[in-house]
Amino acid sequence: MVINWSGKSFDYTEKELAVLVESARTADPMTQGRYLEQFEEDFSAYLGIKNCFAVANATSALDIAAILSGLKQGDEVIIPAHTFCASAYPFGRTGANIVWADIESDTRLISRASIEKLITDKTKVIVVVHLYGLMADMDAIIEIAKKHDLFVIEDCAQSIGAELNGKKSGTFGDCAIFSFHGQKSLTTLGEGGCLVVKSDALARKVPGLRHHGARPFPYKREQYWIPAMGDVDVDLDGVWPINSCLGEPQCALGSAVLKRLDSMNNKRIDRAHRFKEELKDFPELTFQTVKNGFKHVYHLLTAKYEGTNGKTNDDLIKILFYEHNIKVIVQYYPLYRYPLFQKMGFGMANCPNTDNYYDNMVSFPFHLWMSDEEFDYMISCTKKALKKLKEE
Ligand SMILES: Cc1ncc(COP(=O)(O)O)c(C=O)c1O
Repeated sequence: MVINWSGKSFDYTEKELAVLVESARTADPMTQGRYLEQFEEDFSAYLGIKNCFAVANATSALDIAAILSGLKQGDEVIIPAHTFCASAYPFGRTGANIVWADIESDTRLISRASIEKLITDKTKVIVVVHLYGLMADMDAIIEIAKKHDLFVIEDCAQSIGAELNGKKSGTFGDCAIFSFHGQKSLTTLGEGGCLVVKSDALARKVPGLRHHGARPFPYKREQYWIPAMGDVDVDLDGVWPINSCLGEPQCALGSAVLKRLDSMNNKRIDRAHRFKEELKDFPELTFQTVKNGFKHVYHLLTAKYEGTNGKTNDDLIKILFYEHNIKVIVQYYPLYRYPLFQKMGFGMANCPNTDNYYDNMVSFPFHLWMSDEEFDYMISCTKKALKKLKEE
């Protein structure tokens, strides 16, 4: 048996594929039509919040969120250093300075204490990333943000359906973004995303910002072609628009898949619980702490391995890969170590928990397409590998 991260990451049902074909036949226009409207409505209903905007991917949703936050040259934006690079670089584009926050050692998510230490009179924005399917402590973070008048952006690329006290991720901040990339829990054919905007006034700026600044002329035309087919205008003073729309068939598919998102999440949750239960006799392998009130949807199954006899995550990964054909990975390099951020002037940080997690982390393959047999095989091989490391 070989278990790795490659291969098709999402299995659409025949019914969903039929919706896709039907929408490809009937969509008119092919972009920004009734399927977009329906998907945005469905996603809003799922989250229980208004102002959802489907976009081409989560990174462009972050670009728009960065614009809406009003960040400018010289401002500071606090971002966790343990995340995917796209959580951060859209903010660099605004000219603001990225300040790296550390994570908590137990939840492995952005730490409230770290945020508080980093706030200066230049701080304008906090980016919170709900990584691997677990939400950061939004109640505490919103409290800090209110105290210092900061704009909060939730990166929910990996947390669709996660909750805190029954409230879904993406409904706490001033803006939130979701990803429908091919590796995500819901994918609209490999690419896609959504931007959520709390303020109605800011939300009104999004359709123009997301689509070339295009709109109808603000007056009644005598002739439909005079002065031209449509108007182009500025939505926020001094800000250029972008183009980031999600095509109609992708939106139709998004609505269809959304209907079974919770059942897919439940399967992930069951499997993750089983994995953790089966490995509970190996305290050297620890998982994200899920505190009271938090619902973890296990977009990914990540852990920390700290062997008591000096064995490291490299040793565990080697055994699983070379002896059992299971490809466990180390998820993220601390962002300040990447050439991209170093060359852009953001290579400095004081994030000991981020460094420690990087040194010890393991991320198990966790696609839903893994069969029960493959999942059982991964559990039994992980047990064997951990035993072997203990005895060596
Ligand atoms: C935490 C996080 N933020 C942002 C993104 C960017 O998403 P997209 O590929 O839809 O642009 C990803 C994608 O992997 C992600 O994991």
